[in-house]
Amino acid sequence: MTTTSGGPTWLEAVPPSRAAEAAAALFAEHWEGAADGVWSAPGRVNLIGEHLDYNGGPVLPLALPHSTVAAVRTRTDGVLRVVSSADLGGEASVWQGHLSEVGPGAPEGWPAYVAGVLWALREAGHDVGGLDAAVVSTVPLGAGLSSSAALECVVALAVADLAALGETSADAFRAELAAACVRAENEVARASTGGMDQAASLRCTAEHALLLDSATGAVTQVPLPLAEHGRALLVMDTRAPHRHSGGEYGSRRAASERAAQLLGHGLLAQAVDEAGGTAAGAEAVLSRLRTAAAQAGEGAERVEELVRRTRHVLTETARVHQVVSLLTAAAEGSCVGLSGVGAVACIDDVGPVLSASHASMRDDYEISCPELDVVCSAAEAAGALGARMTGGGFGGSAVALVRAGTEQAVAAAVRAAALEAGHPEPAFLRALASPGARRLR
Ligand code: GLA
Repeated sequence: MTTTSGGPTWLEAVPPSRAAEAAAALFAEHWEGAADGVWSAPGRVNLIGEHLDYNGGPVLPLALPHSTVAAVRTRTDGVLRVVSSADLGGEASVWQGHLSEVGPGAPEGWPAYVAGVLWALREAGHDVGGLDAAVVSTVPLGAGLSSSAALECVVALAVADLAALGETSADAFRAELAAACVRAENEVARASTGGMDQAASLRCTAEHALLLDSATGAVTQVPLPLAEHGRALLVMDTRAPHRHSGGEYGSRRAASERAAQLLGHGLLAQAVDEAGGTAAGAEAVLSRLRTAAAQAGEGAERVEELVRRTRHVLTETARVHQVVSLLTAAAEGSCVGLSGVGAVACIDDVGPVLSASHASMRDDYEISCPELDVVCSAAEAAGALGARMTGGGFGGSAVALVRAGTEQAVAAAVRAAALEAGHPEPAFLRALASPGARRLR
Protein backbone atom coordinates (compact mmCIF):
# COMPACT_ATOMS: atom_id res chain seq x y z
CA MET A 1 0.00 0.00 0.00
CA THR A 2 1.53 3.32 -1.04
CA THR A 3 0.58 6.66 0.45
CA THR A 4 1.84 10.10 -0.55
CA SER A 5 0.45 13.52 0.12
CA GLY A 6 2.65 15.62 -2.09
CA GLY A 7 5.58 14.74 0.19
CA PRO A 8 7.44 11.53 0.96
CA THR A 9 6.04 8.24 -0.32
CA TRP A 10 5.24 5.78 2.48
CA LEU A 11 5.03 2.05 1.85
CA GLU A 12 2.48 1.17 4.52
CA ALA A 13 2.15 -2.40 5.77
CA VAL A 14 -1.08 -4.13 4.78
CA PRO A 15 -3.12 -5.48 7.72
CA PRO A 16 -2.68 -9.29 7.79
CA SER A 17 -6.43 -9.92 7.56
CA ARG A 18 -6.64 -7.90 4.34
CA ALA A 19 -3.65 -9.63 2.79
CA ALA A 20 -5.08 -13.02 3.79
CA GLU A 21 -8.38 -12.10 2.15
CA ALA A 22 -6.56 -11.08 -1.04
CA ALA A 23 -4.50 -14.29 -1.15
CA ALA A 24 -7.59 -16.47 -0.59
CA ALA A 25 -9.47 -14.58 -3.32
CA LEU A 26 -6.55 -14.94 -5.75
CA PHE A 27 -6.48 -18.66 -4.98
CA ALA A 28 -10.19 -19.07 -5.65
CA GLU A 29 -9.87 -17.10 -8.89
CA HIS A 30 -7.10 -19.34 -10.28
CA TRP A 31 -7.42 -22.76 -8.68
CA GLU A 32 -10.80 -24.44 -8.30
CA GLY A 33 -11.92 -24.91 -4.70
CA ALA A 34 -10.46 -23.36 -1.58
CA ALA A 35 -7.01 -23.31 -0.01
CA ASP A 36 -6.30 -25.39 3.09
CA GLY A 37 -5.08 -22.30 4.93
CA VAL A 38 -3.25 -18.98 4.68
CA TRP A 39 0.23 -18.20 6.03
CA SER A 40 2.38 -15.12 6.18
CA ALA A 41 6.16 -14.53 6.36
CA PRO A 42 7.75 -11.10 6.85
CA GLY A 43 10.49 -9.24 5.07
CA ARG A 44 13.33 -8.02 7.28
CA VAL A 45 15.57 -5.09 7.91
CA ASN A 46 18.98 -5.73 9.39
CA LEU A 47 19.71 -3.34 12.26
CA ILE A 48 23.42 -4.15 12.24
CA GLY A 49 25.87 -6.93 11.33
CA GLU A 50 26.25 -6.69 7.57
CA HIS A 51 27.90 -9.34 5.41
CA LEU A 52 28.70 -11.25 8.58
CA ASP A 53 26.33 -14.19 8.10
CA TYR A 54 28.44 -16.06 5.55
CA ASN A 55 31.50 -15.21 7.67
CA GLY A 56 30.02 -17.04 10.67
CA GLY A 57 29.47 -13.81 12.59
CA PRO A 58 26.57 -12.25 14.51
CA VAL A 59 23.70 -10.40 12.78
CA LEU A 60 20.79 -8.46 14.29
CA PRO A 61 17.77 -8.27 11.95
CA LEU A 62 14.15 -7.57 12.82
CA ALA A 63 11.02 -8.66 10.99
CA LEU A 64 9.05 -5.96 9.19
CA PRO A 65 5.27 -5.61 9.33
CA HIS A 66 5.43 -6.01 5.53
CA SER A 67 4.99 -9.65 4.61
CA THR A 68 4.34 -12.21 1.90
CA VAL A 69 1.06 -14.02 2.33
CA ALA A 70 0.22 -17.36 0.70
CA ALA A 71 -2.98 -19.38 0.44
CA VAL A 72 -1.87 -22.98 0.01
CA ARG A 73 -3.34 -26.42 -0.65
CA THR A 74 -1.07 -29.45 -0.82
CA ARG A 75 -1.29 -32.10 -3.56
CA THR A 76 0.05 -35.62 -3.75
CA ASP A 77 0.83 -35.83 -7.47
CA GLY A 78 4.00 -33.67 -7.51
CA VAL A 79 2.31 -30.92 -9.53
CA LEU A 80 3.13 -27.32 -8.56
CA ARG A 81 0.77 -24.48 -9.49
CA VAL A 82 1.50 -21.01 -8.22
CA VAL A 83 -0.05 -17.64 -8.93
CA SER A 84 1.75 -14.63 -7.54
CA SER A 85 0.85 -10.99 -7.30
CA ALA A 86 3.43 -8.40 -6.31
CA ASP A 87 0.85 -6.25 -4.55
CA LEU A 88 -2.79 -6.26 -3.52
CA GLY A 89 -4.76 -6.28 -6.75
CA GLY A 90 -1.51 -6.11 -8.75
CA GLU A 91 -0.94 -8.04 -11.95
CA ALA A 92 -0.61 -11.77 -11.31
CA SER A 93 1.89 -14.21 -12.85
CA VAL A 94 1.22 -17.89 -13.03
CA TRP A 95 3.76 -20.73 -13.01
CA GLN A 96 3.14 -24.44 -13.26
CA GLY A 97 5.60 -27.28 -13.13
CA HIS A 98 6.35 -30.67 -11.62
CA LEU A 99 8.58 -31.53 -8.69
CA SER A 100 10.52 -33.95 -10.87
CA GLU A 101 11.74 -30.97 -12.94
CA VAL A 102 13.00 -29.00 -9.94
CA GLY A 103 16.67 -29.07 -9.02
CA PRO A 104 19.86 -26.99 -9.05
CA GLY A 105 19.27 -24.06 -11.43
CA ALA A 106 15.67 -24.96 -12.33
CA PRO A 107 13.18 -23.36 -12.48
CA GLU A 108 14.53 -19.84 -12.97
CA GLY A 109 13.12 -16.55 -11.68
CA TRP A 110 10.65 -16.21 -8.83
CA PRO A 111 9.24 -19.77 -9.13
CA ALA A 112 12.66 -21.00 -7.91
CA TYR A 113 11.85 -19.58 -4.49
CA VAL A 114 8.67 -21.65 -4.29
CA ALA A 115 9.61 -24.88 -6.09
CA GLY A 116 13.13 -24.79 -4.62
CA VAL A 117 11.77 -25.00 -1.10
CA LEU A 118 9.79 -28.15 -1.87
CA TRP A 119 12.88 -29.65 -3.48
CA ALA A 120 15.02 -28.74 -0.46
CA LEU A 121 12.46 -30.19 1.98
CA ARG A 122 12.51 -33.43 0.02
CA GLU A 123 16.31 -33.41 -0.01
CA ALA A 124 16.13 -33.07 3.78
CA GLY A 125 14.12 -36.29 3.87
CA HIS A 126 10.61 -34.88 4.19
CA ASP A 127 7.75 -36.46 2.33
CA VAL A 128 6.19 -33.58 0.40
CA GLY A 129 4.14 -33.72 -2.78
CA GLY A 130 2.99 -30.81 -4.88
CA LEU A 131 0.95 -27.73 -4.10
CA ASP A 132 -1.48 -25.16 -5.38
CA ALA A 133 -0.70 -21.68 -4.06
CA ALA A 134 -1.69 -18.04 -4.42
CA VAL A 135 0.88 -15.55 -3.17
CA VAL A 136 0.44 -11.87 -2.41
CA SER A 137 3.56 -9.95 -1.47
CA THR A 138 3.50 -6.66 0.37
CA VAL A 139 7.27 -6.62 0.91
CA PRO A 140 8.62 -4.02 -1.51
CA LEU A 141 10.45 -5.84 -4.31
CA GLY A 142 14.05 -4.92 -5.12
CA ALA A 143 14.34 -2.84 -1.94
CA GLY A 144 16.80 -5.20 -0.25
CA LEU A 145 14.18 -6.12 2.37
CA SER A 146 14.20 -9.86 1.63
CA SER A 147 11.08 -10.33 -0.43
CA SER A 148 12.54 -13.56 -1.84
CA ALA A 149 13.31 -14.99 1.60
CA ALA A 150 9.77 -14.10 2.69
CA LEU A 151 8.43 -16.07 -0.28
CA GLU A 152 10.60 -19.10 0.55
CA CYS A 153 9.68 -18.98 4.21
CA VAL A 154 5.93 -18.65 3.70
CA VAL A 155 6.00 -21.71 1.42
CA ALA A 156 8.15 -23.69 3.87
CA LEU A 157 5.92 -22.94 6.84
CA ALA A 158 2.70 -23.66 4.95
CA VAL A 159 3.95 -27.00 3.64
CA ALA A 160 5.42 -27.95 7.02
CA ASP A 161 2.12 -27.17 8.71
CA LEU A 162 -0.06 -28.98 6.18
CA ALA A 163 2.15 -32.05 5.88
CA ALA A 164 2.82 -32.08 9.66
CA LEU A 165 6.57 -32.16 9.08
CA GLY A 166 7.39 -30.93 12.58
CA GLU A 167 6.51 -28.64 15.47
CA THR A 168 6.13 -25.39 13.53
CA SER A 169 5.95 -23.25 16.67
CA ALA A 170 9.32 -24.56 17.92
CA ASP A 171 12.37 -22.46 17.11
CA ALA A 172 14.51 -25.58 16.54
CA PHE A 173 12.17 -26.77 13.79
CA ARG A 174 12.02 -23.29 12.31
CA ALA A 175 15.81 -23.37 12.11
CA GLU A 176 15.49 -26.55 10.01
CA LEU A 177 12.96 -24.87 7.75
CA ALA A 178 15.28 -21.86 7.40
CA ALA A 179 18.09 -24.20 6.35
CA ALA A 180 15.88 -25.69 3.63
CA CYS A 181 15.04 -22.18 2.40
CA VAL A 182 18.74 -21.27 2.26
CA ARG A 183 19.40 -24.40 0.22
CA ALA A 184 16.61 -23.46 -2.18
CA GLU A 185 18.12 -20.00 -2.59
CA ASN A 186 21.74 -21.17 -2.93
CA GLU A 187 21.18 -24.21 -5.12
CA VAL A 188 17.93 -23.79 -7.03
CA ALA A 189 17.87 -19.97 -7.38
CA ARG A 190 21.70 -19.98 -7.47
CA ALA A 191 22.09 -16.91 -5.26
CA SER A 192 25.06 -17.43 -2.93
CA THR A 193 23.56 -15.51 0.01
CA GLY A 194 24.08 -16.34 3.70
CA GLY A 195 21.29 -17.38 6.07
CA MET A 196 20.31 -14.13 7.79
CA ASP A 197 17.17 -13.37 5.79
CA GLN A 198 15.53 -16.76 6.20
CA ALA A 199 16.35 -16.87 9.93
CA ALA A 200 14.82 -13.42 10.34
CA SER A 201 11.63 -14.31 8.49
CA LEU A 202 11.07 -17.56 10.40
CA ARG A 203 12.64 -16.93 13.82
CA CYS A 204 11.99 -13.26 14.71
CA THR A 205 9.46 -12.32 17.39
CA ALA A 206 7.47 -9.09 17.82
CA GLU A 207 9.19 -6.21 19.60
CA HIS A 208 12.58 -7.90 19.37
CA ALA A 209 15.56 -7.99 17.09
CA LEU A 210 17.04 -11.42 16.45
CA LEU A 211 20.66 -11.94 17.43
CA LEU A 212 21.76 -14.84 15.23
CA ASP A 213 25.13 -16.47 15.69
CA SER A 214 25.64 -17.54 12.10
CA ALA A 215 28.33 -20.07 13.02
CA THR A 216 26.11 -22.14 15.32
CA GLY A 217 22.60 -21.05 14.28
CA ALA A 218 21.87 -20.10 17.92
CA VAL A 219 19.51 -17.16 18.41
CA THR A 220 18.76 -14.71 21.21
CA GLN A 221 15.72 -12.45 21.20
CA VAL A 222 16.99 -8.93 21.95
CA PRO A 223 14.32 -6.52 23.23
CA LEU A 224 13.86 -3.41 21.12
CA PRO A 225 12.18 -0.98 23.52
CA LEU A 226 11.97 1.91 21.08
CA ALA A 227 8.38 3.17 21.09
CA GLU A 228 8.13 3.40 24.88
CA HIS A 229 11.25 5.56 24.88
CA GLY A 230 10.13 7.82 22.05
CA ARG A 231 12.38 6.33 19.37
CA ALA A 232 11.63 4.64 16.03
CA LEU A 233 13.32 2.96 13.08
CA LEU A 234 12.81 4.44 9.64
CA VAL A 235 13.64 2.42 6.52
CA MET A 236 14.63 4.45 3.48
CA ASP A 237 14.34 2.56 0.19
CA THR A 238 16.62 4.41 -2.24
CA ARG A 239 14.88 2.79 -5.23
CA ALA A 240 18.30 2.89 -6.83
CA PRO A 241 18.78 0.21 -9.45
CA HIS A 242 20.90 -2.59 -7.94
CA ARG A 243 24.16 -2.26 -9.86
CA HIS A 244 26.21 -5.44 -10.26
CA SER A 245 24.72 -6.60 -6.99
CA GLY A 246 25.00 -10.33 -7.78
CA GLY A 247 28.63 -10.22 -8.94
CA GLU A 248 29.79 -7.77 -6.27
CA TYR A 249 28.11 -9.78 -3.51
CA GLY A 250 29.89 -12.90 -4.76
CA SER A 251 33.22 -11.11 -4.93
CA ARG A 252 32.88 -9.84 -1.32
CA ARG A 253 32.09 -13.36 -0.19
CA ALA A 254 35.06 -14.74 -2.14
CA ALA A 255 37.39 -12.09 -0.66
CA SER A 256 36.26 -12.99 2.87
CA GLU A 257 36.84 -16.67 2.18
CA ARG A 258 40.28 -15.96 0.74
CA ALA A 259 41.24 -13.84 3.76
CA ALA A 260 40.06 -16.58 6.14
CA GLN A 261 42.05 -19.15 4.19
CA LEU A 262 45.21 -17.02 4.25
CA LEU A 263 44.83 -16.68 8.02
CA GLY A 264 44.40 -20.43 8.36
CA HIS A 265 40.79 -20.17 9.49
CA GLY A 266 37.65 -21.80 8.13
CA LEU A 267 35.64 -18.58 8.54
CA LEU A 268 36.56 -14.98 9.34
CA ALA A 269 34.58 -15.28 12.59
CA GLN A 270 37.58 -17.25 13.85
CA ALA A 271 39.82 -14.29 13.02
CA VAL A 272 37.49 -12.24 15.24
CA ASP A 273 38.11 -14.73 18.06
CA GLU A 274 41.83 -14.55 17.39
CA ALA A 275 41.71 -10.73 17.73
CA GLY A 276 40.24 -11.20 21.20
CA GLY A 277 38.06 -8.09 21.17
CA THR A 278 40.86 -5.53 21.42
CA ALA A 279 42.10 -2.96 18.92
CA ALA A 280 45.65 -4.26 19.31
CA GLY A 281 44.41 -7.81 18.66
CA ALA A 282 42.64 -6.67 15.50
CA GLU A 283 45.77 -4.89 14.25
CA ALA A 284 47.80 -8.03 14.91
CA VAL A 285 45.37 -10.11 12.82
CA LEU A 286 45.46 -7.59 9.97
CA SER A 287 49.22 -7.47 10.01
CA ARG A 288 49.40 -11.29 9.96
CA LEU A 289 47.00 -11.21 6.99
CA ARG A 290 49.21 -8.69 5.16
CA THR A 291 52.24 -10.93 5.57
CA ALA A 292 50.40 -14.15 4.66
CA ALA A 293 48.78 -12.57 1.57
CA ALA A 294 52.07 -11.13 0.33
CA GLN A 295 53.81 -14.47 0.89
CA ALA A 296 51.06 -16.20 -1.08
CA GLY A 297 51.88 -13.92 -4.01
CA GLU A 298 48.86 -11.58 -3.85
CA GLY A 299 49.59 -8.20 -5.44
CA ALA A 300 49.86 -5.10 -3.23
CA GLU A 301 46.38 -3.83 -4.17
CA ARG A 302 44.73 -7.16 -3.51
CA VAL A 303 46.52 -7.41 -0.17
CA GLU A 304 45.08 -4.06 0.92
CA GLU A 305 41.65 -5.02 -0.39
CA LEU A 306 41.68 -8.22 1.70
CA VAL A 307 42.80 -6.19 4.73
CA ARG A 308 39.93 -3.70 4.30
CA ARG A 309 37.35 -6.50 3.92
CA THR A 310 38.68 -8.25 7.02
CA ARG A 311 38.77 -5.00 9.00
CA HIS A 312 35.06 -4.53 8.27
CA VAL A 313 34.31 -8.03 9.56
CA LEU A 314 36.32 -7.40 12.75
CA THR A 315 34.87 -3.97 13.51
CA GLU A 316 31.31 -4.82 12.44
CA THR A 317 31.27 -7.84 14.75
CA ALA A 318 32.28 -5.59 17.66
CA ARG A 319 29.53 -3.12 16.73
CA VAL A 320 26.86 -5.84 16.80
CA HIS A 321 27.89 -6.76 20.35
CA GLN A 322 27.92 -3.08 21.31
CA VAL A 323 24.36 -2.56 20.03
CA VAL A 324 23.13 -5.72 21.76
CA SER A 325 24.64 -4.52 25.07
CA LEU A 326 23.06 -1.09 24.71
CA LEU A 327 19.60 -2.48 23.87
CA THR A 328 19.77 -5.05 26.65
CA ALA A 329 20.79 -2.40 29.18
CA ALA A 330 17.99 -0.14 27.95
CA ALA A 331 15.43 -2.93 28.38
CA GLU A 332 16.73 -3.80 31.84
CA GLY A 333 16.83 -0.16 32.92
CA SER A 334 20.46 -0.60 33.98
CA CYS A 335 21.83 1.89 31.59
CA VAL A 336 24.77 4.24 31.81
CA GLY A 337 25.35 5.49 28.30
CA LEU A 338 27.80 7.91 26.75
CA SER A 339 25.02 10.44 26.35
CA GLY A 340 23.75 10.10 29.92
CA VAL A 341 22.01 7.73 32.30
CA GLY A 342 18.78 5.86 31.57
CA ALA A 343 17.23 3.79 28.81
CA VAL A 344 16.89 6.66 26.34
CA ALA A 345 20.61 7.44 26.62
CA CYS A 346 21.51 3.85 25.81
CA ILE A 347 19.15 3.72 22.84
CA ASP A 348 20.52 7.00 21.55
CA ASP A 349 24.05 5.63 21.86
CA VAL A 350 23.08 3.04 19.24
CA GLY A 351 22.90 5.88 16.68
CA PRO A 352 26.64 6.57 16.31
CA VAL A 353 27.31 2.83 16.13
CA LEU A 354 24.96 2.60 13.14
CA SER A 355 26.75 5.51 11.49
CA ALA A 356 30.15 3.90 12.11
CA SER A 357 28.81 0.74 10.50
CA HIS A 358 27.82 2.73 7.42
CA ALA A 359 31.31 4.25 7.17
CA SER A 360 32.82 0.77 7.39
CA MET A 361 30.60 -0.54 4.59
CA ARG A 362 31.35 2.51 2.47
CA ASP A 363 35.12 2.59 3.00
CA ASP A 364 36.25 -0.91 3.99
CA TYR A 365 33.73 -3.36 2.54
CA GLU A 366 32.91 -0.96 -0.35
CA ILE A 367 29.29 -1.99 -0.81
CA SER A 368 27.57 1.39 -0.55
CA CYS A 369 26.68 3.69 -3.44
CA PRO A 370 25.96 7.44 -3.78
CA GLU A 371 22.20 6.95 -3.31
CA LEU A 372 22.74 5.15 0.01
CA ASP A 373 25.36 7.64 1.20
CA VAL A 374 23.06 10.58 0.45
CA VAL A 375 20.01 9.18 2.28
CA CYS A 376 22.10 8.32 5.35
CA SER A 377 23.79 11.71 5.62
CA ALA A 378 20.57 13.58 4.89
CA ALA A 379 18.78 11.62 7.63
CA GLU A 380 21.51 12.50 10.11
CA ALA A 381 21.47 16.15 9.07
CA ALA A 382 17.71 16.13 9.68
CA GLY A 383 18.16 14.89 13.24
CA ALA A 384 18.37 11.10 12.95
CA LEU A 385 20.51 9.65 15.75
CA GLY A 386 22.32 7.42 13.26
CA ALA A 387 21.82 5.74 9.88
CA ARG A 388 23.34 2.96 7.82
CA MET A 389 22.78 1.04 4.62
CA THR A 390 21.24 -2.36 5.30
CA GLY A 391 21.28 -5.67 3.40
CA GLY A 392 23.48 -6.64 0.49
CA GLY A 393 24.32 -3.09 -0.64
CA PHE A 394 24.82 -1.39 -4.05
CA GLY A 395 21.29 0.04 -3.82
CA GLY A 396 18.34 -1.13 -1.76
CA SER A 397 17.58 0.38 1.62
CA ALA A 398 19.10 2.16 4.59
CA VAL A 399 17.83 2.25 8.17
CA ALA A 400 17.82 5.26 10.50
CA LEU A 401 17.21 5.55 14.24
CA VAL A 402 15.02 8.62 14.79
CA ARG A 403 13.07 10.38 17.54
CA ALA A 404 9.43 9.27 17.33
CA GLY A 405 7.34 11.98 15.74
CA THR A 406 10.17 13.17 13.47
CA GLU A 407 9.69 10.45 10.82
CA GLN A 408 7.81 12.70 8.43
CA ALA A 409 10.31 15.56 8.73
CA VAL A 410 13.32 13.26 8.33
CA ALA A 411 11.69 11.55 5.35
CA ALA A 412 10.93 14.91 3.73
CA ALA A 413 14.54 16.05 4.16
CA VAL A 414 15.89 12.75 2.80
CA ARG A 415 13.56 12.91 -0.19
CA ALA A 416 14.65 16.48 -0.94
CA ALA A 417 18.35 15.58 -0.68
CA ALA A 418 17.96 12.56 -2.98
CA LEU A 419 16.08 14.58 -5.61
CA GLU A 420 18.61 17.41 -5.32
CA ALA A 421 21.39 14.89 -6.02
CA GLY A 422 19.54 13.70 -9.14
CA HIS A 423 18.78 10.30 -7.58
CA PRO A 424 15.47 8.42 -7.77
CA GLU A 425 12.81 9.48 -5.27
CA PRO A 426 13.18 7.28 -2.17
CA ALA A 427 10.25 5.57 -0.44
CA PHE A 428 9.88 5.09 3.32
CA LEU A 429 8.71 2.36 5.68
CA ARG A 430 8.14 2.31 9.42
CA ALA A 431 10.08 -0.63 10.81
CA LEU A 432 8.04 -1.91 13.76
CA ALA A 433 9.61 -5.13 15.01
CA SER A 434 6.99 -7.70 13.96
CA PRO A 435 6.36 -11.42 14.45
CA GLY A 436 8.05 -14.05 12.31
CA ALA A 437 6.20 -16.32 9.87
CA ARG A 438 2.83 -17.61 11.10
CA ARG A 439 -0.47 -19.12 10.09
CA LEU A 440 -3.17 -16.50 9.54
CA ARG A 441 -6.16 -18.74 8.97
C1 GLA B 1 21.81 -10.18 1.63
C2 GLA B 1 21.96 -11.68 1.87
C3 GLA B 1 22.19 -11.98 3.34
C4 GLA B 1 23.32 -11.14 3.91
C5 GLA B 1 23.14 -9.67 3.54
C6 GLA B 1 24.30 -8.83 3.97
O1 GLA B 1 20.64 -9.73 2.25
O2 GLA B 1 20.79 -12.35 1.43
O3 GLA B 1 22.46 -13.36 3.50
O4 GLA B 1 24.57 -11.62 3.51
O5 GLA B 1 22.93 -9.49 2.16
O6 GLA B 1 24.38 -8.75 5.35
